[in-house]
Amino acid sequence: MKVFEQKGSVTLITKQQVMTILRPVKDPYIHKRLHEMNGIKAVHVDEETGKVKAELQLAQIGTQAQKQLYEELVEKLKLIGATEVVLQFGLLPEEELNKYPVYKTKRSPLLNGETDTEFLAIASGKGGVGKSTVTVNLAVALARLGKKVGIIDADIYGFSVPAMMGVTTKPTLKGNQIIPVEAYGVKVMSMDFFVEDNEPVIWRGPRLGKMLNSFFIEVEWGELDYLLLDLPPGTGDMALNVHTTIPTSKEIIVTTPHKTAAYVASRAGKMAINTNHDIIGVIENMAYFESQLTGEKEYVFGRGGGQSLADMLGVSLLAQLPLTQPNDQNEGASVYQEDEPTAEAYQRIAKAVIDFK
Ligand SMILES: Nc1ncnc2c1ncn2[C@@H]1O[C@H](COP(=O)(O)OP(=O)(O)O)[C@@H](O)[C@H]1O
Ligand SMILES: [Mg+2]
Repeated sequence: MKVFEQKGSVTLITKQQVMTILRPVKDPYIHKRLHEMNGIKAVHVDEETGKVKAELQLAQIGTQAQKQLYEELVEKLKLIGATEVVLQFGLLPEEELNKYPVYKTKRSPLLNGETDTEFLAIASGKGGVGKSTVTVNLAVALARLGKKVGIIDADIYGFSVPAMMGVTTKPTLKGNQIIPVEAYGVKVMSMDFFVEDNEPVIWRGPRLGKMLNSFFIEVEWGELDYLLLDLPPGTGDMALNVHTTIPTSKEIIVTTPHKTAAYVASRAGKMAINTNHDIIGVIENMAYFESQLTGEKEYVFGRGGGQSLADMLGVSLLAQLPLTQPNDQNEGASVYQEDEPTAEAYQRIAKAVIDFK
């Protein structure tokens, strides 16, 4: 007896169904339907396998709003039968955007890949390891090498960058744009500028994301070679939220030399990798204390953590920085002066960052 195999011609999802989901989608910034702005560029539906692929164009990409839209659409399409959803986002063409003058002021060249600015995120497994100290001194080192540098203090609850750089002024406004404060040749933006008298910040989720976004969109950064981001410590919601909100960045992980600290920091490294950030390397901070009298090194916080973290992540150990406070404790309390050995170590890290491809 011959058995005839019937090739499955079952329809899992139709293009028409997909379009009923996509047609009403509005651009998050212009609040107008994408399909009225030529924002639905391509839609491919394999009706038999249920695979959906769409190319959408938005006024702004790389934003929290895009991420939200992506998640919503995937969920909706899967509900009506899609087995796999691939969504690609691009920018709406200039001539389309120009029709919406209100929007124009919100356009962020930084986030839309219109600049050559490199994003450099500084992360750590936990607080207190020197993440902000590294951010500030690496930024200053890059500026000393003639680079145009900015810092976003993205540790929203634990902001500390302005204080560490001795900044006492606030940003000014030019039209709708915020002009960042400059210290040591570095432009700085921080939550610190928007809270009164060092009050704790109690914002959550969406409002926080908005704040972070506005640091990119509403700040007049001018031309920048590097924008450093001091990330929240650890691998909790806050850190993950910031990791997914910021544009794809090169990343540096800071740890202390203790093996346990390095183990904790490896989770931060994995988070970086999971969120598509490229790790440049590891900095071991507070690596040792060097006696000024005998020159002898004491490894007060243990040894080997930096190297083992670098090995775990398959990256290089960029530096082992000693325990030492900057000479000048007044002005920028945490900035090492150019002739101090630690400042020279930061210059070497800065060169490694510049050379990293
Ligand atoms: N290499 C170092 N030597 C001495 N003190 C340091 C060093 N690195 C950081 N510190 C100090 O340790 C504390 C925590 O550093 P900080 O940069 O604020 O850490 P994080 O941002 O990771 O919480 C600060 O008081 C800072 O001045
Ligand atoms: Mg900090």
